[in-house]
Amino acid sequence: MTQVNRQWCVADAPGSAGLGLTREQFEYRESAVPEPAEGEVLIRNVYFSCDPMNHAWVKGMEERFVAIPVGQPMCGGVSGRVMKSRHPDFKEGDAVTGFLEFADYTTTGAFDRTGTPLQRIPDGFSLASGLATLGMTGLCAYFGMTDFGRPRLGDTVVVSGAAGAIGTVAGQLAKLCGARVIGIAGGSRKGAMLRDDLGFDATIDYKNEDVPARLAALCPDGIDVFFDNVGGAILDAALANMAHGGRLVICGGIAGYNSQAPGLQNHMALAMRGCTMSGFFFFDYVGRFREGVDRLARWMNAGQVKEVLDVADGFDTVPEAALGQFAGANMGKQLVRIADDPGA
Ligand SMILES: NC(=O)c1ccc[n+]([C@@H]2O[C@H](COP(=O)([O-])OP(=O)(O)OC[C@H]3O[C@@H](n4cnc5c(N)ncnc54)[C@H](OP(=O)(O)O)[C@@H]3O)[C@@H](O)[C@H]2O)c1
Repeated sequence: MTQVNRQWCVADAPGSAGLGLTREQFEYRESAVPEPAEGEVLIRNVYFSCDPMNHAWVKGMEERFVAIPVGQPMCGGVSGRVMKSRHPDFKEGDAVTGFLEFADYTTTGAFDRTGTPLQRIPDGFSLASGLATLGMTGLCAYFGMTDFGRPRLGDTVVVSGAAGAIGTVAGQLAKLCGARVIGIAGGSRKGAMLRDDLGFDATIDYKNEDVPARLAALCPDGIDVFFDNVGGAILDAALANMAHGGRLVICGGIAGYNSQAPGLQNHMALAMRGCTMSGFFFFDYVGRFREGVDRLARWMNAGQVKEVLDVADGFDTVPEAALGQFAGANMGKQLVRIADDPGA
């Protein structure tokens, strides 16, 4: 075990006010490997999760995220192995995931930095899957689609950010319900992956096609479920094409994280067509994580949900991988692998 603990910390970056995350806000530091206190474990982190919401950790957001002070390690989703345990519920070698420091090693009690219980990754699944399809990514798709989208046989479901982490799972879950699924994503490579590998029925390349016109052509009877990861103009185009009684599920709004997204013009469709628009937040579902993980694991084992991972290699790649999501650099779940799995 190395004695150096590499960390990505919050830098003092003048001029970086506002919501978005910039390269200047990442500062590399080293510290000593921490020792777990009584009631804690020492974790060797292996994967970091890059999430569009990483900026919320750094800058704070409403009452949910307290901004991390300058000089302190950034936080986010990680998965790794317990190397030392002074907690009765965990033993050396356990595969775990939680929201912890972007560092080689971290110590924690049974709750992570969000106050969420440290999650054990089910046997037979990799540390990568524990952080992706069986982590926040898959669970957001599962709770958003099953609780709010509720697709029925023959429904037309549209997913934005469709080739990303949550979108790839959300679309597959809608297919499992017998829906016709249309994905909106940037570029022909992503559209081909959605259709050829994941069975989406059609795709819209929002970077090269007229989204309102394509939605109107592909959804002549309207959209029954719109699962939104993007917001802004794409959400507005979906609103204009909703079916009567349609359901809009607000998972995310990446179009507005690093820049100002345009406001909605078509929101009266909610009234005129009796639609509902519901948002949800992952951390409100802690009590049902087990249900979601069990179901996703079963679908993965049966080959009914395929995992799409985009794995960058090496600790140095964290800033580039985290920022790349805003330019659509990732296909599927963006992870960074910082070490070999000591338990593999
Ligand atoms: N509700 C919750 O509790 C919760 C939890 C986690 C994440 N989220 C949200 O869910 C959404 C998806 O997260 P994820 O982890 O699955 O990320 P992701 O989709 O893997 O990555 C983001 C993708 O968004 C697309 N994108 C970036 N800027 C865009 C823009 N201006 N307009 C349209 N598309 C754009 C890019 O793909 P293209 O190549 O297609 O542009 C990029 O690959 C995010 O908004 C995230 O904040 C919500």
